[in-house]
Amino acid sequence: MRALINPSILSADFANLERDLAAIAGADYAHVDVMDNHFVPNLTIGLPVVQRLVEASPVPVDVHLMIEDPDRWAPAFAEAGAASVTFHAEAAQAPVRLARELRSLGARAAVAVRPATPVEPYLDLLDELDMILVMTVEPGFGGQSFIEGTLPKIRRARAAITAAGADTWIQVDGGVSRSTIERVAAAGANVFVAGSAVYGADDVAGEIAALRDLAEQ
Ligand code: DX5
Ligand code: ZN
Repeated sequence: MRALINPSILSADFANLERDLAAIAGADYAHVDVMDNHFVPNLTIGLPVVQRLVEASPVPVDVHLMIEDPDRWAPAFAEAGAASVTFHAEAAQAPVRLARELRSLGARAAVAVRPATPVEPYLDLLDELDMILVMTVEPGFGGQSFIEGTLPKIRRARAAITAAGADTWIQVDGGVSRSTIERVAAAGANVFVAGSAVYGADDVAGEIAALRDLAEQ
């Protein structure tokens, strides 16, 4: 399966975002983590910065909203030009209504589940979702270690998508690196977020290519 590599700019230099976006021109999407200090205990950037990142990025922007009340806030990120908008299952009041609204605004719509949140409720709703994000760490910070116990959930999601004949993507986010990406790919993920692995590398472009090669083996 073709693997998509989405570097997370959470590990970029926030004083040099334009430079660090240019460095990932060989990636598939730029993964932008929006945190509100309520849904997760960390605070990053908001809509005005994301609007400029969309304009500055050489690749489409994949927004990961780690915020409360996505029903209210997520559509604005689609209107800002994000190609993909992911909101968290634990925070959304009406995930299907929100996904439909995001699609109507031209974005791919995705739902994220924390490591301890079941994916099963969403496997009956595949027609409504362009992507499911299975978090492989607790959201909030880069550089955490991969949680092996998330692999069966990825396998179950892939089996359900295959059985349904759907083309919903499975994204993984957290602790994805050269040492874990083959296992998550084998479990069925096809979209790989990597923050510290990409931006911590001496050769950023080479690291993206290496991760893609490992995922596609
Ligand atoms: C964490 C963010 C991730 C983060 C991943 O909550 O959603 O996108 O940047 O960082 P690494 O790849 O370093 O685990
Ligand atoms: Zn993320």
